[in-house]
Amino acid sequence: MNTLKGLLLAGGTGSRLRPLTYTGAKQLIPVANRPILFYAIDAMVTAGITEIGVIIGDTGQEVKNALGDGNQFGCHFTFIPQEAPLGLAHAVKVAHNFLSDSPFLMFLGDNLLRGGLNRLAQRFRDGHYAASILLTEVDNPSQFGVAVVEDGRVVRLIEKPTDPPSRLALVGAYCFAPRIHEAIERLTPSWRGEYEITDAIQSLIDDALPVDATLVEGWWKDTGRPEDVLEANRLVLEDLQTRRQGVVDNESRIEGRVAIEESAEIRRSTIRGPVSIAAHAVVEDSYIGPYTSIGPGVRILHTEIENSVVLSDSQITGVRDRIDQSLIGRGVTVQGIRSRPRAVHLILGDQSQVDL
Ligand code: G1P
Repeated sequence: MNTLKGLLLAGGTGSRLRPLTYTGAKQLIPVANRPILFYAIDAMVTAGITEIGVIIGDTGQEVKNALGDGNQFGCHFTFIPQEAPLGLAHAVKVAHNFLSDSPFLMFLGDNLLRGGLNRLAQRFRDGHYAASILLTEVDNPSQFGVAVVEDGRVVRLIEKPTDPPSRLALVGAYCFAPRIHEAIERLTPSWRGEYEITDAIQSLIDDALPVDATLVEGWWKDTGRPEDVLEANRLVLEDLQTRRQGVVDNESRIEGRVAIEESAEIRRSTIRGPVSIAAHAVVEDSYIGPYTSIGPGVRILHTEIENSVVLSDSQITGVRDRIDQSLIGRGVTVQGIRSRPRAVHLILGDQSQVDL
């Protein structure tokens, strides 16, 4: 078989992650201080995929800048613009030239898979399938593509069913033989106006072609909403390795697994891991609790924070209550008010969310 190419989806609008996605691509939001997309690339490269097409949309330039030519990941990228987010099957269509007649693995760049892509790629390489898909049991199947599996074979697939025939959801990772292009040519848009890859795979099944399914090992996280990003951050921090590059003074306590990158400074503070603190961050007279990622250049002063993600260059000073379960963007200022009258003073971007 030809070598597997990779197709990584990094377009889309990220509407459920506004306001963060007004100024950046959703796939570049970091968990444990690494863009979500980088984990996807690592998973592809580890599965032996080194020719990767990256589908980009409105945030294309930012994605290109972050990814470079692929050298830092041990692969080669070809960037493929998608004019409008018209669905996963449409993304395959615009990538047809790049993919040519190679089999390929497609992965959604905002998805995280603890167990990686090796098993999916291996099953596909070893078998003679038209497609291999990954499935996992979910509580809310009507929000996904759903599969009915009999004797290890997929017999039916349906996108976002109102009456789900099973709880097995399609995870955003698929392997395809080149025959998929023909199925995509025949598609019509779904009720949501998208060309659905789920419908294309169903048409392979209708043509009696073998579609293989395997269950996800370990966790899978689609990071579409703020709470998903926080949970993904928790899950990734579970595997964090202790590192001590920055400066920690004698009056600080570091407990558990904490990664402190170069030029970060911790003074008179307690850090209780798992916690990731990026380069050039400053933490003073503060408490950073478990499952928190503090981004590069962030300053946390006289504040307690846990279960949270703070992106780059924000400053949080003198907040009276402990900050919990929060996702804070780039260049944000949060400060406690000490003068009277004690009031809340807010300058928030569109679609911000504040719980007081
Ligand atoms: C897409 C697919 C769906 C799949 C999901 C996984 O949904 O259409 O079949 O279950 O990704 O994240 P979307 O994110 O476009 O709603």
